[in-house]
Amino acid sequence: MDGRKLREYLSEAPGLVVDCRPSVDSTNLLAKAWAREGGALPALFAADRQTAGRGRLGRSFESPEGGLYFSLAIACEGTEPGSLTTLAAVSALKAADSLGIPALAIKWVNDLIQGGRKVGGILTEGLAGGGMSCAVIGIGINAGSAQLGPELRGKASPLDWGTAPPDRERLAALTALFMMRGLPEVPAHMDFYRARCLSLGRYARFEREGRQETGLVTGILDDGALLLQTAHGEALLRSGEASLRTEDGSYF
Ligand code: BTN
Repeated sequence: MDGRKLREYLSEAPGLVVDCRPSVDSTNLLAKAWAREGGALPALFAADRQTAGRGRLGRSFESPEGGLYFSLAIACEGTEPGSLTTLAAVSALKAADSLGIPALAIKWVNDLIQGGRKVGGILTEGLAGGGMSCAVIGIGINAGSAQLGPELRGKASPLDWGTAPPDRERLAALTALFMMRGLPEVPAHMDFYRARCLSLGRYARFEREGRQETGLVTGILDDGALLLQTAHGEALLRSGEASLRTEDGSYF
């Protein structure tokens, strides 16, 4: 990542702190430490690689050199983490669209999908400090050409830039700008989210109270919760994940 280029693309957000490094453990950890210590907000942390990238549900996020890894620390004044995740997904898609990157889609709640494979994800973490409510929204996109580890092959894939010249700094900057613009308008972004979410209208497998269930995804509420019709009635999923059934009966 070229920090100078990133700052230039973000010049229309004058108060934004921008910190760009070749390698970190996790940009989310860096952003959380900054916010906890009372650093100025909003602040954006980006890195070329992460040595301990974090994913949702306690998973790790493989972060080889050349990908796109960044976290935005913001004062969120009561906005729910679920809304921040959906806003980040919408912002990444709008940024990709505006660069002409072949269509990205969303798999509820935080997966960025292209051509049926995961190309990125979002991890939102809240923290309360200094009497102000803050959150860190981390976005990771397999935007480089590095080979993914064996456990991800077949599931994840590198971003296809199409005819757009690969420009990670521009993609990160546009995503952050869309997020900052969208924040005061939450949940106005949800119509876009629903329009680009692959999960709607599909059969999904999910876990509730320790049991596996399946159901038809019938809606996504404005706060990001997933609504499913199951054999036992309606279910509302606020966290966790919902794997989607494919034509051959497998789930992804
Ligand atoms: C997921 O797919 O489960 C979420 C992945 C989120 C990864 C990003 S990369 C930038 C930021 N730093 C982290 O450690 N995680 C997020």
